[in-house]
Amino acid sequence: MKRSVHDTDRSIYEFPAIFRRVHKERPGDIEAEVWFLRKVWRRHLERPVRRVLDIACGNSPHGQILARAGCDVAGIDRSPSMIAAGRAESRGLDRIRFYRRPIAKFALPERPFDAAIFMSETFPVMTRNAEILSHLESVGRLLKRGALYCIDVDRQDGLRVVRSRQIWRRRTIRLGDAIVEVRAFNRPMPWDSGIHSIFELECKIRFSDRTVITRDLIPIRYTIPCTLEMAAKASRMFEFIAAYADLSFVTPLGECDRWLGVLRRV
Ligand SMILES: C[S@@+](CC[C@H](N)C(=O)[O-])C[C@H]1O[C@@H](n2cnc3c(N)ncnc32)[C@H](O)[C@@H]1O
Repeated sequence: MKRSVHDTDRSIYEFPAIFRRVHKERPGDIEAEVWFLRKVWRRHLERPVRRVLDIACGNSPHGQILARAGCDVAGIDRSPSMIAAGRAESRGLDRIRFYRRPIAKFALPERPFDAAIFMSETFPVMTRNAEILSHLESVGRLLKRGALYCIDVDRQDGLRVVRSRQIWRRRTIRLGDAIVEVRAFNRPMPWDSGIHSIFELECKIRFSDRTVITRDLIPIRYTIPCTLEMAAKASRMFEFIAAYADLSFVTPLGECDRWLGVLRRV
């Protein structure tokens, strides 16, 4: 008999392969991001990047590519399933380590890194000033002086600020035997909260023998280059040195879909 699990505590991050499709990742996307990160490092750092810290790494697809190319990588994430997927995928690769940590405040038993990366538009989930500052302090303590911290953020001016919960997008995807009905909602926030929107992601995953519903509530703080610059300054650990649009040094910021903030450890 088919079982249905209506447990709203379940998260799409418990299903790493499905999460990638839900996030509309296309083949080659991660490789292109790693290629651009390397270009940024070459442009702004005079020494080679040998050790990389991957924040909210998930299964660390970026870290896995870098580790296979000879970098030493440590990733942090709070999701045991994403970390387990990363460990399984990188079995036999001794240059990558995963730690279960919250992004807001953490420490690691690691030597200092040459660079940190925070990909996939997750930085804006830190919504409180205190969280952002303790995050920057945690990262800063793990970086060498002069090290770079690259933060990938989506352009957010297309987000609708809503007064009541509203459906935003819906689609259905098929992955092997599983059919996933994805519904995304926007939810309202008090105007003075600093949070631009709450993105609610609901996935009804129909496996052949059971159906699981996941629900993730992802708060999004409006994050633009000047707010990142201010946060960097306030942390006293970083200076903001650049914002690049769409993995390019030449695309104007005004035309971008996403941007990469580059901070330097002072
Ligand atoms: C969109 S995924 C990105 C994963 C990976 N960086 C990538 O590009 O594929 C976001 C990740 O952030 C993690 N995450 C979200 N909030 C977190 C928090 N407060 N502390 C630690 N990890 C968090 C999730 O578990 C998830 O693996």
